[in-house]
Amino acid sequence: MTDSPPDLRGRRILLGVCGGIAAYKAADLSRRLIEAGADVQVVMTDNAARFVGAATFQALTGKPVRDSLWDAQAESHMGHIELARWADLILVAPASANTLARLAHGLADDLLATLVLASDRPLAVAPAMNRLMWNAPATQDNLATLRARGVRVLGPGAGFQACGETGEGRMREPSDLRDDVAGLLGPHGPLAGRHAVVTAGPTREPIDPVRFITNRSSGKQGYALARALAQLGARVSLISGPTQLAVPPGCVRIEVETAAQMCAAALDAAASAELFVGTAAVADYRVQDVATDKIKKTGTTMQLALVRNDDILVRVRAARPDLFMVGFAAETENLEAHARDKLARKQLNLIAANRVGPGRAFDVDDNQLSVYWAGGQRELASAPKDVLARELALLIAEHFVTGP
Ligand code: PMT
Repeated sequence: MTDSPPDLRGRRILLGVCGGIAAYKAADLSRRLIEAGADVQVVMTDNAARFVGAATFQALTGKPVRDSLWDAQAESHMGHIELARWADLILVAPASANTLARLAHGLADDLLATLVLASDRPLAVAPAMNRLMWNAPATQDNLATLRARGVRVLGPGAGFQACGETGEGRMREPSDLRDDVAGLLGPHGPLAGRHAVVTAGPTREPIDPVRFITNRSSGKQGYALARALAQLGARVSLISGPTQLAVPPGCVRIEVETAAQMCAAALDAAASAELFVGTAAVADYRVQDVATDKIKKTGTTMQLALVRNDDILVRVRAARPDLFMVGFAAETENLEAHARDKLARKQLNLIAANRVGPGRAFDVDDNQLSVYWAGGQRELASAPKDVLARELALLIAEHFVTGP
């Protein structure tokens, strides 16, 4: 999977960079924040400038780096007080032991420390230092003071350190810090505060205590979509059949096994939802009489009577005529005709159709989608599932916000 950034469009991050070898990672962090749409202003300490040049940050952020309280030109148009008010979040990364001590004790001996003191904006620090400095009682006391004031301490991680030692004190990875920033800033984006339900993965229909009928769905497409909707601000209930995947940030997973369980969970979650997306590959039939004991080999053939499962989308639509609903269609032929038939029959607002077959859509990393709605369509070209999910989530948000 590729790394799909959260939506930080319009968010203003003041990135304080302190002295330490991890300062080079702050350049990558500023790039990732910019890629996610954030407006980034870098403030460097004198010691940071010994590790990485201001020109690097200026090129990445498109803004002159601020590094002095005594810069007459900078102070004439955006003084340190204005800078302190400008930010939605101040992130100090890397945060050295020295700067943590200065912040804990309220010093105002350089631009970064002064504007932290002069700001009422949320403050997060990403410590980076040698493991002994990290474990030193003085550092831990300073961190306790900062935490008690509501400062968020992100990391550090453990592992190999530039000084040759191994232990706690490594700065968290830039992509993790970017996601932390998104989490700290809270829901944002066109679906902010909306409750979305996503079904994902396969279902399992038991035959006897050890056997079941299932399909090849891995859950990758559904999980990627759940993540993308959460990144647009939605609160996501992810109703999942059995998969090996981790719960995406911003999602609450409800684990189910059978189609009947998925249907019950979907109806329950849909009662308070504003958006419903069915990406799950739900079994259309279940075994009529599930054996309580393991079925023994007897004849050369065997017959299982199957009964039709309820269609989850149809049941949810009947319960919630007002809900914005998106379905998927997995087709081997006549993609548009079959998808449009499902769009109409299941009374959906949108349907995303994919061609399935050996090596296509099910249990692979890439996919291709044709999205249909009454009077329109959009082709989403072949791409990794998380990239497609992001495009589809934006399309869903566009239709959801403007209405059917
Ligand atoms: O999980 P991956 O490996 O990433 O693969 C992704 C995928 C191929 C499973 C996904 O992209 C996909 O196509 N999901 C829908 C699979 C499917 O069951 O399609 P369908 O055409 O049979 O069903 C149409 C729609 O009705 C789907 O939204 C389905 O969730 C829904 N349905 C189906 C049966 C049923 N009893 N209840 C339903 O709600």
